[in-house]
Amino acid sequence: MNGGWVEPCSISEYGQRKIKIKADSPLFEGLDKEQIVLMSHTDQIQELPEGFFVTASSETCPNVAIESVEKSLYGVQFHPETELTIHGEQIIRNFLYQICHAEGDYTLKNFIGEQIRSIREQIGDEKVILGLSGGVDSAVCAALLAEAVPGQAICIFVDHGMMRKNEGNEVEKAFATKSLEFIRVDAADRFLSKLAGVIDPEQKRKIIGNEFIQVFSEQAMLHDDAKFLAQGTIYPDVIESGSGKAATIKSHHNVGGLPKDLNFKGIVEPLRSLFKDEVRQLGSALGLPQSIVNRQPFPGPGLGVRIIGEITREKLHILQEADARFREEVEADCVPANQYFAVLTNLRSVGVMGDSRTYDYTLALRAVITHDFMTAEYAPIPHTTLSRLSKRITNEVKGINRIVYDITDKPPATIEWE
Ligand code: XMP
Repeated sequence: MNGGWVEPCSISEYGQRKIKIKADSPLFEGLDKEQIVLMSHTDQIQELPEGFFVTASSETCPNVAIESVEKSLYGVQFHPETELTIHGEQIIRNFLYQICHAEGDYTLKNFIGEQIRSIREQIGDEKVILGLSGGVDSAVCAALLAEAVPGQAICIFVDHGMMRKNEGNEVEKAFATKSLEFIRVDAADRFLSKLAGVIDPEQKRKIIGNEFIQVFSEQAMLHDDAKFLAQGTIYPDVIESGSGKAATIKSHHNVGGLPKDLNFKGIVEPLRSLFKDEVRQLGSALGLPQSIVNRQPFPGPGLGVRIIGEITREKLHILQEADARFREEVEADCVPANQYFAVLTNLRSVGVMGDSRTYDYTLALRAVITHDFMTAEYAPIPHTTLSRLSKRITNEVKGINRIVYDITDKPPATIEWE
């Protein structure tokens, strides 16, 4: 729009890189001349638009940050919004307060008030149906609905059979006592028969998403007084599902249109603009117990994305048992990790147990340190914990004869294995 030229570059940059700040800029005020930032790109500006100046560059990328004070336009090639950009928060702060002159009068309390008003305005006296997964997002969404429209929310817990060990019962226990109508639908057979033979991860997500909507539709028809559908969609779901020209990284089943054959008047997504850490803060502010608020994130399609290859009952059972033991040991040793889970790879190999030969699965363990879940570092679990885990799982869980620990950060990997 301003002229200039962008082209694919010969050396792409992924991960943390050092950049040099080359000119005074309000964007970099208060920062040292060398900064560590997260780069993730295959394009570069080859020719600057007229009136723009370079304010930062890296070893291979000459135009990492540019600006035109006259036009009041500032651009950065790196990702200031992630933790891997060490002073990213300061850069965003500078942008908001120095450049845009924002006042910073937003508070979570205002947010709750605004959302309650907007939910009431949207729903009125009607009933609203919410899919409750037991995860933080839908729980906070439920709490917000209970606050905004008490007695009008019907929470449907679709048990797709791919929850962690005992999780279905825990969810039921936690929510059954709330002043919300709670319905548990045991739909494991339906999901598993649709997933039979499917190995492509995106297709699995789509099948689970569609079936989820199906089960929902059926429940909605039984509750045809509910005119609205609420979902705990959060901002990263919106970004990562791709929109417009952005590449679809993963389609998250919790972002979707309204089922066409249902007569919902509208969709309620009060958390759509929030990041995970904000959702947790909101949950605390709404008085939810810490056990729910600080729960680690769990994908909507559940263990379905943690079983590589075809999903079967047998594999689900193996993964549930192994994952429960992994989480137990990590918690017992107080390993600092924000998310930790097991993945059942599709790799089988020969092993030996006692006098017999086995041909069993390889289990991968994943634990990461992250706050925003957009970037993450693998958690350095002590070897003593890993050895204990390896012995315990191979001894106690039939079907696994080999265990590996994932030592990849995000990027280049993602947190989940799919
Ligand atoms: P990735 O694998 O993309 O995951 O690095 C980032 C975070 O998102 C979680 N995740 C999901 N959360 N619905 C969710 O609510 C989903 O479909 C979904 N898929 C991944 C993942 O566990 C990690 O914390």
